[in-house]
Amino acid sequence: MCGIIGYIGSKEAVPILLDGLKKLEYRGYDSAGIAVLKDSKIQIKKCKGKIVKLENLLEKATPKGNIGLGHTRWATHGKPNNLNAHPHNGCNSEVVVVHNGIIENYMPLRERLISEGHNFISETDTEVLPHLIESNYQNDLTLAVKKSIKEIEGSYAIGVISTHDPEKLVVSRCGSPLIIGIGEGEMFLASDIPALLSYTNRVIFLEEREIATITKDGAEIINSEGKILQKEVVNIDWDEEMTEKSGYKHFMLKEIFQETMVIRNNLEGRINLSTKALELDNLSLPLDKITEIERISILACGSSYYTALAGKYIFEELTGIPIEVDYSSEFRYRKILLGKKDLTILISQSGETADTIAALRACREAGSYILALTNVRGSTISREADSVMYIKAGPEIGVATTKAFICQLMCLYILSLYFAQVREALDSSEINKIISELIKIPQMVEIILLREPEIIKLSEEFLSFHNFLYLGRGINYPIALEGALKLKEISYIHAEGYPAGEMKHGPIALLDKTFPTVVIAPRDRVYTKVINNIKEVKARDTLVLAIATEGDKEIINIVDRVFYIPKTSDILYPILSVIPLQLFAYHIADRLGCDVDKPRNLAKSVTVE
Ligand code: F6R
Repeated sequence: MCGIIGYIGSKEAVPILLDGLKKLEYRGYDSAGIAVLKDSKIQIKKCKGKIVKLENLLEKATPKGNIGLGHTRWATHGKPNNLNAHPHNGCNSEVVVVHNGIIENYMPLRERLISEGHNFISETDTEVLPHLIESNYQNDLTLAVKKSIKEIEGSYAIGVISTHDPEKLVVSRCGSPLIIGIGEGEMFLASDIPALLSYTNRVIFLEEREIATITKDGAEIINSEGKILQKEVVNIDWDEEMTEKSGYKHFMLKEIFQETMVIRNNLEGRINLSTKALELDNLSLPLDKITEIERISILACGSSYYTALAGKYIFEELTGIPIEVDYSSEFRYRKILLGKKDLTILISQSGETADTIAALRACREAGSYILALTNVRGSTISREADSVMYIKAGPEIGVATTKAFICQLMCLYILSLYFAQVREALDSSEINKIISELIKIPQMVEIILLREPEIIKLSEEFLSFHNFLYLGRGINYPIALEGALKLKEISYIHAEGYPAGEMKHGPIALLDKTFPTVVIAPRDRVYTKVINNIKEVKARDTLVLAIATEGDKEIINIVDRVFYIPKTSDILYPILSVIPLQLFAYHIADRLGCDVDKPRNLAKSVTVE
């Protein structure tokens, strides 16, 4: 979704803004722009298309100045075009705004402002903001912003500059994230941490409706009532290298190859590798919560929803606690039947998915305790949940999630083992057995990654098909869904994930020799059932690629192609079986020349409903 970057200091703003915009590209966008303030004049340059187009525009005439704002737009109101691109200005180019989010009451505001003589030129909801701030301005930009945000409904993260107050950036947020970066004699603003990492690791997270007045020497932050706030400065433990491709062709590939490392990061500090003891002491979830709860609801969107589905199998198997899983976007509009005996687990890599935030707030209202699994420290979900377990994936830049998916699974395994221990749902030897397998997973992931050439070959064989069916059963059913999602989102090839046993109730009608099937068929307790399903598929002349357990000779005689993964416990297979599917989707998409890291129409964090 849209991205914001801002700078105020003594350096030229344009290179910093451009660098920040490039770091935000992964969020997804269709146009980009910057505004630079100098000598009581604001210059705006913006265009539809990629940042390189904006760069070309700027090369011809680079605005000079030490204060500026930049924006990548992902169209919601108004087509992607030069006029609708941000920044937007008021009538006299005296107030300029960049905005993420949606101003829901922009129509009546726009009509009122037009009747007062304001002239609008774009189709965006955003354009009401500079006009509103302009009309509320009485010698103080911060007060004008404060007054204006009281009049707007919806979600926003805004950066404002004005020729009237040329030494400051005024910013505010509600529903969309905004982070202030602290430098030496310079300050930064961004919608996302990776945009700041080249300059600083010290940040302040703005809370809902707070307003910051940023000068080059610091920021004064007030709440919506005007009270000055003392905000915590947070040190982010990510570094700039983490946001580079480091020699890989795409971030997605780099992130898949980081999976061994991030799995180890998740084991570290949570499982003592020599004693195999669980060490979740710094998880701020009270023990009585774990013992008292009667039900867990896991809520998430997209791929995180698929880890939630796998979480149902994991938790129910290991803890015996009944689990409900729902899409955040569906859950939030249903009658909410939660209470004090419920625990809600929210899964969100970004911690900023609008529907998951709304679901969190609905659960809170219903009285449920909320545990968040997220990757981003300081994200809205991390701040609003009662407890947080960080998934320790490091920055994930590729729009299609890979390593964060694996990390979410890791957290669910560790968490459910911990719950099983606290609730005495399993005895220590059973827990030890699973932990012993879990700590072998990084080596197994390495083995799979070494087999990438086999996947490349398979992707070449399969890339000309237009439709795929992905099948899995039991705990591997969510992985079939994830495999299909990976393929469709980055290669635009139609793929459907289905429970293998359900296939004959409908999708089997689709199958013929033009419709290959990818089946996850490890040697687990449903293996023979899956083999029967494969036979049903093969009877329709369908080409079958199986993800099977090392040493399974039987399956070679039934399917057309096999990719082997190492043997592990039944419950742990998803963490291994998803990796070849990620690589398969990646190599097909890459071969087809798709923009793997930034697939069309998609955004890394979906901050609007
Ligand atoms: C797919 C993908 C998305 C996200 C979804 C939720 O590859 O990345 O489906 O999983 O948008 O995002 P988070 O986890 O940030 O809430």
